[in-house]
Amino acid sequence: RDSKAQMIIDAGQKHFGAVVCKSCGMIYTAASPEDEAQHIQHHQRFLEGLKYVSWKRERVVAEFWDGKIVLVLPDDPKYAIRKAEEVRELVDNELGFKQVVLRCPAKIKTYLFVSSEKKIVGCLVAEHIRQAFRVLSEPHAPQSPNQGVLEYHRAWRCSTKPEPAICGISRIWVFSLMRRRSIARRMVDVVRNTFMYGCYLSTVEIAFSDPTPDGKLFATKYCQT
Ligand code: ACO
Ligand code: ZN
Repeated sequence: RDSKAQMIIDAGQKHFGAVVCKSCGMIYTAASPEDEAQHIQHHQRFLEGLKYVSWKRERVVAEFWDGKIVLVLPDDPKYAIRKAEEVRELVDNELGFKQVVLRCPAKIKTYLFVSSEKKIVGCLVAEHIRQAFRVLSEPHAPQSPNQGVLEYHRAWRCSTKPEPAICGISRIWVFSLMRRRSIARRMVDVVRNTFMYGCYLSTVEIAFSDPTPDGKLFATKYCQT
């Protein structure tokens, strides 16, 4: 492990500093052998999983100065499908989804954002849906200032009235150290453009399923602009 590849952050602890690994993004306690071991395990699996080796006839749907977006479809060759699955597993793991069964694996579209360093730094899974339930504004925002805004409620209140939608985004993820660089925004733009042949989906035709706090902040902002 390269110690230069790390940076100490102040986690407000007296004795043990939390460290964030500059290559895999994991935050752990350097002073704890258990944490160290866990990091090493995560580090290898993560970097291996996100390594991108381009394949024959990869479907590049967008190109940017800092990377490209590759689309993987259910009928693609085994190696492409396997890579999409490998990335999805890492994402599910980070999102705390455990062994989520895809509603219809034969229909999902996986969009991978590949950086110019040939690493997969973004992943979006989209599927066809017919209807969605709008997330309503938060029922109980934290009242006490001590409680702080960091306390989120995962169970957003949803409308009971179904609204027609076309594209469901079941997962959207960007590598922790590459966030706030419009990677998620560009992935959703590309989905809207490529999900249905010949039309550009409006923001009401796409729906984010079961959003996390990050996902909700992003979706709210994205759908406004
Ligand atoms: N807090 C506040 N605003 C945010 C945040 C945030 N954490 N993330 C995005 N936004 C808003 C900002 O206005 C941002 O524009 P700005 O940076 O110019 O201010 C705008 O959304 C666009 O953001 P992007 O840079 O395109 O978003 P990013 O590439 O950072 O990815 C994502 C956002 C995917 C939510 C990322 O934070 C992430 O991977 N989080 C962890 C995984 C996760 O929770 N994913 C959502 C799960 S829900 C689902 O999959 C349906
Ligand atoms: Zn690491």
